[in-house]
Amino acid sequence: MALWGGRFSTGPDEAFKQFNDSLPFDYQLAEQDIIGSVAWAGALEQVNVLSSDEHKELVSALYELLEEVKADPTAVATSGAEDIHSHVEAALIEKVGDLAKKLHTGRSRNDQVATDFRLWCRDTADHILKAIAQLKAEFVALAERELGTILPGYTHLQRAQPVLFSHWCMAYVEMLERDESRLQDAKARMNYCPLGSGALAGTAYPIDRQALAQGLGFTGATKNSLDGVSDRDFVVELLSCASISMIHLSRMSEDLIFYNSGEAGFIELADNVTSGSSLMPQKKNPDALELIRGKTGRVFGAFSAMMMTLKALPLAYNKDMQEDKEGIFDAMPTWLACIHMAQACIKGVKVKGERTLAAAKGGHANATELADYLVVKGVPFREGHHIVGVLVQLAISEGKTLEELSLDQYKSVSDVFENDVYPVLEIDACIKARQALGGTSIEQVTGAIKAAKKNNR
Ligand code: ARG
Repeated sequence: MALWGGRFSTGPDEAFKQFNDSLPFDYQLAEQDIIGSVAWAGALEQVNVLSSDEHKELVSALYELLEEVKADPTAVATSGAEDIHSHVEAALIEKVGDLAKKLHTGRSRNDQVATDFRLWCRDTADHILKAIAQLKAEFVALAERELGTILPGYTHLQRAQPVLFSHWCMAYVEMLERDESRLQDAKARMNYCPLGSGALAGTAYPIDRQALAQGLGFTGATKNSLDGVSDRDFVVELLSCASISMIHLSRMSEDLIFYNSGEAGFIELADNVTSGSSLMPQKKNPDALELIRGKTGRVFGAFSAMMMTLKALPLAYNKDMQEDKEGIFDAMPTWLACIHMAQACIKGVKVKGERTLAAAKGGHANATELADYLVVKGVPFREGHHIVGVLVQLAISEGKTLEELSLDQYKSVSDVFENDVYPVLEIDACIKARQALGGTSIEQVTGAIKAAKKNNR
């Protein structure tokens, strides 16, 4: 039964009903709708709309319904009701009869859905925060396992300077920490309760909205009823957090796909996150990582769709706003699954240290060291940069590394060079020199690992 038949002489077309109904997706708000209804029943008792006996009976029926919904969450989706709010009311009428019809006093589906949805977003954010903490811990564990491993660092996908493999790990820990803090900020802003805003103008019953909000675990009540029912910033913010985090996961995937390629051969992904080819028996494809990279597009899509939907909507509630759910109902589980899958990939990564070291030694990635050596000898950096460029050209033409050039060859370009140039060119020296905050020296990376472990507790 619809919640609004009185004013109509005919029912809706079947096609319209299908078009209009949101139950096929908003059934996912069932638990939040029931919890919100329990709180609203409490508020109605306080303003004497419900007697204490009526309140007791309603609340126990709501809890009974909650158990049923938890036992079989998808069963609700096919009841034929218009939306989850109509469904819960109809199910309640079945349990306690006419008494259930009092529950909607002073409430609208507009403040109801806004409340349910905030509760859902808050719960979902908590699941994500837990998963991010686990992924961070996995990166830290890998960083500790591979502390001595040297990796070529890239810019423009050209070997630039050697870095510790653990430094690469900790770069992603930094990103994940920002993802966490963004999500916590979004959570803090979304945690205000619109219940008691009515359809748009506020409720006509003297409800203590602050107490109602706090009972539902909110920081407080929203302060303007028009805004309370029509604000969906929290959806946009959550999708924005998801999108930014997916950028990070996608960049991680791209790095690892490259490291795992035959050409680089820096890592091997575990069997449990890779798949084979139906045709080519030798292949082991990084499907999990490619899917993370691919699903990023889906999450961005939900984010931009939400912004398009809200743009230019007049105050207050409009049915357009029902379109706020399917995108985020898809994007949040997608984000969560990607975090979990990233964790599984990181857990099983086998780093091939001799390959990464050999690659880090190639490509004249210690050229900067040579320029710094000249600086110490009093040559201005820009001039040193030029001298080293000439030496790199010489090394390339002879098919040699910089440390393979003879002292005579060095002196032929600048007589500042002495025998003490060779230790500077050693790869360990390149790493060791990066002692300033945030650099790739063992000391700095160990410090970052320690700090991350402390933060994650
Ligand atoms: N299913 C609706 C939604 O998700 C609930 C609010 C309906 N409000 C209304 N005035 N028709 O937006």
